[in-house]
Amino acid sequence: MTAHSNQITEHDAKSAAIARAKRLAPDLAARIGSTPATRFRGNPDIFGRLVADHDEHRALLAMIEETSGDSPDRRRLFGELVNEMQAHAAAEEQALWSAVLRNPDTTEDARHAVAEHKQIDELIEELQEADMASPGWLRRFAKLKDKYLHHIREEEQEQFVAAEKHLSDADLAHLRSVFNRRKKAEKAT
Ligand SMILES: [Fe+2]
Ligand SMILES: [Fe+2]
Repeated sequence: MTAHSNQITEHDAKSAAIARAKRLAPDLAARIGSTPATRFRGNPDIFGRLVADHDEHRALLAMIEETSGDSPDRRRLFGELVNEMQAHAAAEEQALWSAVLRNPDTTEDARHAVAEHKQIDELIEELQEADMASPGWLRRFAKLKDKYLHHIREEEQEQFVAAEKHLSDADLAHLRSVFNRRKKAEKAT
């Protein structure tokens, strides 16, 4: 595959991810460009699949910042973001981080990523308990957004890159076959 056609595939995957987020509130801007972009996408069926989820999350995070008060848009987008992020994290732990943890060269990466999932869950819980109509809600939301953007930037720029190098072909095949199935199941619960 040439570099040029690779770029088109990556661009399409990113556009499709943003379009999925936009379906929930077509009139809101998704200024994904204002959030850190990644250059790493890896194999489109393996790590590219995870990065496409991250793009959708980046779009939802940006769109929520365009909402105000306890509005139907904010409720719908935040509900979808939480469901998406939590299903993605659970599937990622089962399909990827479990294998990364087993390899002594990368154990620390997996520990770090899973610990951040826990911290992200705590920030989500705080937001679920806070009053969406209060100005403090968006301030708390900005904390979640910063933490999550940091998390996915590290995954894309450090841990996925190391995992792609260290995982065996069997581990990569496991990731490819398990992630979609587990994410779907997690999202349904
Ligand atoms: Fe993650
Ligand atoms: Fe991720």
